[in-house]
Amino acid sequence: IISLAAEELDVESYVIGGFVRDHLLQRGDPKDIDVVAVGSGIELAKKVSELLSHKPKVQVFKNYGTAMLRAFDMEIEFVGARKESYSEDSRNPVVENGTLQDDQNRRDFTINALALSLNKNNFGELLDPFNGLEDLKSQIIRTPLDPDVTYSDDPLRMLRAIRFAAQLGFRIEKESLKAIRENKDRIKIISKERIVDELNKIMLSEKPSVGFALLHKTKLLKLILPELTALEGIDEIEGQRHKDNFWHTLEVVDNISENTDDLWLRWAALLHDIGKAPTKKFHKKIGWTFHGHEFVGAKMVYKLFKRLRLPLNEKMKFVQKMVLMSSRPIAIVDDNTTDSAVRRLVFDAGDNIEDLMTLCEADITTKNPKRFDRYHN
Ligand code: CTP
Repeated sequence: IISLAAEELDVESYVIGGFVRDHLLQRGDPKDIDVVAVGSGIELAKKVSELLSHKPKVQVFKNYGTAMLRAFDMEIEFVGARKESYSEDSRNPVVENGTLQDDQNRRDFTINALALSLNKNNFGELLDPFNGLEDLKSQIIRTPLDPDVTYSDDPLRMLRAIRFAAQLGFRIEKESLKAIRENKDRIKIISKERIVDELNKIMLSEKPSVGFALLHKTKLLKLILPELTALEGIDEIEGQRHKDNFWHTLEVVDNISENTDDLWLRWAALLHDIGKAPTKKFHKKIGWTFHGHEFVGAKMVYKLFKRLRLPLNEKMKFVQKMVLMSSRPIAIVDDNTTDSAVRRLVFDAGDNIEDLMTLCEADITTKNPKRFDRYHN
């Protein structure tokens, strides 16, 4: 239908981006399709709607020159092929009309620049100027143009590269990693909401430690979640050492993630030890202690949520409670779910966070009333 509509308007059209990538990777049910028209994307969307029997409403975003309609259980987004140029202080580009090649040039990664033709003369042909197909096969994240330019133009792409590496199990090309490290400070122009969106996607990937280790390696993590990087390192005094709480945390997150897809339980695992950096002390008699880290950690969660503009609602309270109980999610990890009380706590609730929170409340008030009161007072 899109092809027919484009033919009627006498414009070229292509499917591009995530849909093509995921189709080639045979990855899940697509939820959206991006269509590029070499001409007006808005006109093409209107024509497609006319041709569809249910005449879906076309949402037009005039400022962006894009339009969207819902059909076949998907959101179909239309955009005119464009050429972009960026200024220093914004990730919003100056846009001009362009060719398909211009549009592919402006894309973040070679695997996201693949286009499928919807035109009559070469319908279904894959247009792949940057060898994206090869990169899909060899599982590499690479930028179409100079990585320094791609990341500096739109620093959100640094997080996207890491997110795709985590989600797809791909590796980031060396030049790209270097460019991310060099451009890391530009992350400051990205909104907190977008940063959190990408963090959540990393958190929901199969093995979140992959993404967090890359954030650490590129030094982005220190800029986004300094509370976590503060946990890194092992100190030794009088021959006594403590564990590296940063790498331990990543193990905990992976282990939790094998047991639950719940985003907030995963956040709780990530933050469960953050109180340990500010409470670390060495006592001559007892060695290393992190006395009170649960309470300090729970307060830090509040500040961290506020800073990242994460909602200060029941979910945050849930994460705080898990941090306050501190060793609870860890117990699942450390001895591979031998702690039956913790197992029950998590698994009885399934992935239903509300039930889980009720269970946690019950657990704190009945088993650890003192801890609970001390924190709330
Ligand atoms: N894109 C880009 N730079 C960005 C964001 C997006 O070049 N900062 C391009 C990519 O070609 C991408 C397409 O726009 O494939 C669509 O972006 P988006 O819907 O955000 O991502 P997808 O690649 O579709 O992946 P996902 O749906 O998993 O987020």
